[in-house]
Amino acid sequence: MAAEPITPIDVAAIRRDFPVLEKPTRAGKRLVFLDSAASSQKPRPVLEAMTGFYETEYANIHRGVYELAEASTARYEGARARTARFIGASSPNEVIFTKNATEGINLVARSWGGANLGPGDAVVLTQLEHHADIVPWFQLQAEKGFEIRWIPITADAQLDLTDLDRLLDGAKLVGLTAMSNVTGTLTPVRRITDAAHAAGALVLVDACQLVPHVATDVAALGADFAAFSAHKMCGPSGIGVLWGREALLDAAPPFLGGGGMILDVTLEGFTPGALPAKFEAGTPPIAEAVGLHAAIEYLDAIGMERIREHEVTLTGYALRTLTERLGDRLTIHGPAEPAARGGVLSLALADVHAHDVSQVLDEHGVCIRPGHHCAKPLMRVLGTNATARASFYVYNDTDDVDCLAEALEAAADFFAF
Ligand code: ALA
Repeated sequence: MAAEPITPIDVAAIRRDFPVLEKPTRAGKRLVFLDSAASSQKPRPVLEAMTGFYETEYANIHRGVYELAEASTARYEGARARTARFIGASSPNEVIFTKNATEGINLVARSWGGANLGPGDAVVLTQLEHHADIVPWFQLQAEKGFEIRWIPITADAQLDLTDLDRLLDGAKLVGLTAMSNVTGTLTPVRRITDAAHAAGALVLVDACQLVPHVATDVAALGADFAAFSAHKMCGPSGIGVLWGREALLDAAPPFLGGGGMILDVTLEGFTPGALPAKFEAGTPPIAEAVGLHAAIEYLDAIGMERIREHEVTLTGYALRTLTERLGDRLTIHGPAEPAARGGVLSLALADVHAHDVSQVLDEHGVCIRPGHHCAKPLMRVLGTNATARASFYVYNDTDDVDCLAEALEAAADFFAF
């Protein structure tokens, strides 16, 4: 029986767009996919756009002058323009296609950071960051010798901004997740970008968990750089986006070298090309850009405001249901208020290891991610090694939450507490 609709989204109709959700699990259960924070499933329009492109228009781009190459180039650049419009960029030149968000952050660290950071400077990160926004800064720090400072979190995993002014004093860059992939915490990006700019620092936003779930306008965020991945927003893996203010990208040196990113190469050296080609060395993810374009159209047709409304309501339902059914056997990390978070719930079932919880859930057809979620510093602050993380998207409804609750009860019974 279909779940009672609780939001303006027609989840039953959306589910029919996702072929994988029709496939029962090994144990013959309905697939309850609650791991979209790791990677979302793909709807038919995205799959068909990519297949159709390969069947009729594919060729390498910005090279050939034949019909197919021109069509392929137009599709790739069309995807860039559509992506720019989706996030409120002022020009397609501000959209660099990368392999994923991790590569986008590495690009900023190596290119902008390599040219602008040195001894005496500081980079400010938050305790909520994913390794993708930590490790590149440690790698660069080893070469450049700047200081790394940390914005701490409160007991309910919100940023503690009490000491923000002191932390920003002398800082050149703030690296900030807009939504934690572990606790779902939404951070006050605008407040931090305003404070950072007043202190003379730029802000790089890890928007991986934001762009798929919340209408995003980079101008309204006040950010200088933002990175996200297509695979978390109904698009394919293998393509990400690094958005940056045009003047900053223009002034920064190239990241990777090779074909496509040059104006000229001689036996003495090379001259980089203009934006955005300067940052896109080698054959880029062409069909993946077509897939990202289709994913943006798909999400926009549902409506980003409605997606957010759906996820707040579903998260509220999940917080209530899990608390009522599991009581003090279950800890849910992160903010208690659904509006302060995204649809990401990091759970601890008494002292049962998250991997064991996940295995029992799998027998019930419920897919979650156990582990440290590539955020080991945050895990240490939360006082744990691992959590069992359930995350929601457009194809999830209250039935999925009920299945999660039932499977968690079964896990609690199995481990007998
Ligand atoms: N960053 C992804 C996650 O949170 C892979 O699971």
